[in-house]
Amino acid sequence: MKKLNGKLKHNIAVFISGRGSNLKSIIKYSLKQNSYYTVKEVISNKQRAKGLIIAKKKNINNHFINFTKSKQLGNKVLSILKKNNIKLVCLAGFMKILPSYFIKSYNGKIINIHPSLLPKYKGLDTHKRVIANKEKYTGCTVHHVNVYLDSGRIILQKKVRITKKDTAKSIEKKVLKIEHKIYPKAINKVLTNL
Ligand code: GAR
Repeated sequence: MKKLNGKLKHNIAVFISGRGSNLKSIIKYSLKQNSYYTVKEVISNKQRAKGLIIAKKKNINNHFINFTKSKQLGNKVLSILKKNNIKLVCLAGFMKILPSYFIKSYNGKIINIHPSLLPKYKGLDTHKRVIANKEKYTGCTVHHVNVYLDSGRIILQKKVRITKKDTAKSIEKKVLKIEHKIYPKAINKVLTNL
C-alpha cells in the first residue's frame, strides 16, 4: 500500500474492453485527496482498446491479455494481481464473462458497473430494451461480481429520468455521465470496508 497525503491507498486493477471513459473517471478520482486507491494495473481483453492508450498516457502499467486462453488468464492475470498487491478488481466496460474459478480466487474482490437499474435489464443492449419497454427511469449500478451474470450484491445505484424525446443513444450519454460519478465513489466505499 502506498502512502499519499498521509493516507494509505490500496492498489486496484481496472479491466476494460474498449473506450475507457469509466477508467478515465476512476483515474481522475484516484488523484483526489479523498480517494482510497491508486490505479496500479489496467488489463484489456482487446488489443486495440482505447482505454489502453489512456493508461499509457497516465504511466499506468497496462496489458493486453487474451482471455480466451485459460493459461494466460490463470497464470498471467493472477500473477500480475498478486505481484502488485491488488486489493480490488474493477470491471469497467469489460465485455467478457470471467470464468468461475477466477471469480472464486478473487472472492468478493471484483466489482462491476452495469448500465441499468439492476436487477432490471441484465446483459447486453440495456438502453434499447429500456426504450422499447417505455420505462420512465433508468440508471446504473455498481455491484459485486459473483458467478451469475450481473447478479452480485449491489454497492451503489443512481437513477436518471427518461423523457419522451430520449433515444437509446441519448440515454447512453445520460447514464454514462452518472456512471462516471458513482463508480469512483463505489470503489472508495468498498475499500473502506475491506
Ligand atoms: C459503460 O456504459 C458500462 O456500464 C458498460 O459498458 C460501457 C463502457 O464504457 N458495461 C457493460 O455493459 C457491462 N455489461 P467505457 O468503456 O467508456 O467505460
